[in-house]
Amino acid sequence: PAIAAVIPAAGVGKRMQAAIPKQYLTLHGKTILEHSVGRILGHHQVAALWLALDKVDPYFSSSSLNSSPLSDSAVKRVDGGSERAHSVLNALQQIDATAYPWVLVHDAARPLIRDADITLLIDSCLQAGYGGILASPVRDTMKRGKATTAAVQVAGTVDREQLWHALTPQFFPTRQLCQALADALAAGVNVTDEASAMEWAGQQVLLVEGQADNIKITRPADLALAAYFLDQQRLEQQH
Ligand code: CTP
Ligand code: MG
Repeated sequence: PAIAAVIPAAGVGKRMQAAIPKQYLTLHGKTILEHSVGRILGHHQVAALWLALDKVDPYFSSSSLNSSPLSDSAVKRVDGGSERAHSVLNALQQIDATAYPWVLVHDAARPLIRDADITLLIDSCLQAGYGGILASPVRDTMKRGKATTAAVQVAGTVDREQLWHALTPQFFPTRQLCQALADALAAGVNVTDEASAMEWAGQQVLLVEGQADNIKITRPADLALAAYFLDQQRLEQQH
């Protein structure tokens, strides 16, 4: 099927503590947003892209994306919302679910997504017949904490075998995801990714193991880490 993609890129990047929103910071000569858009749009199964941007975004117009792929009718700009889920929902409401029965949602702040992982997610979900997400297994021993009056104490150890880091892209039937997100937001559910809305709606969600270098640029040190991973990916491609 023809696949639509949504990239929420309307955040302010508070935790990054930079002067500009993190998606406009530069990584090896291109903005993080340019990397992310290039990788998603570069996937052979992605036929159209909706980009959610802040209404008053002053940075996008000077980006290469404003001229090149955006002049292409395959890329459409939509207004972001107050939270990530609202940005994604605004985009989903623009998509013709008959033309694009499946949608791939990817954080603008994950510039390192590999083409092979996008393919793995899409193929795994289409084969299963329901949506899913890329995830990476938790490697640390995980503790549950409990606050006492004096300090925070360990309440127990959580079985690590069952824990995964949720990554993006996340891939779902367009109509189902749009409905689940709208309903979950209306019900006041804290929706931090697409899967959480689908879980809330009682839908099955596939976990597909992806590469752990698909990090979300969140804090200042992540930029140097992303530069390192990008170098590693380029070296891999030469072999
Ligand atoms: N995002 C969005 N609309 C919002 C908030 C976030 O489109 N209202 C996007 C961000 O641009 C980012 C992705 O959702 O690509 C993941 O969110 P996050 O990493 O939390 O980015 P920010 O919200 O910008 O960062 P912070 O939470 O540190 O402010
Ligand atoms: Mg945020």
